[in-house]
Amino acid sequence: MAKNSADIVRDALVGKEIHMSEPVVAQTSPYGVEVEARQDYWWCACGKSDDQPFCDGSHRGTGFSPVQYTAEKSETFWFCGCKKTGDVPQCDGSHNKL
Ligand code: FES
Repeated sequence: MAKNSADIVRDALVGKEIHMSEPVVAQTSPYGVEVEARQDYWWCACGKSDDQPFCDGSHRGTGFSPVQYTAEKSETFWFCGCKKTGDVPQCDGSHNKL
């Protein structure tokens, strides 16, 4: 049986990653997190995690990867929520331009 164009497109996409060009805006404000000195944190860069601002593996297939952050000291750290920061993973106020 001959394949129609929808079948051909579906076949082409099966098993392949569908890359996102832009991250999802998780929220339009930063996440204030009490971090502990010398602890590693994995910031979600794709915006799809249900455990914001941290990675839960939902980036699979998006082309995005989480960003490691090691806290220098125990403090409140403001992780970017809009995923548009120029100072990954820290909020740089980019959410104010959305
Ligand atoms: S879930 Fe977003 S980077 Fe992993």
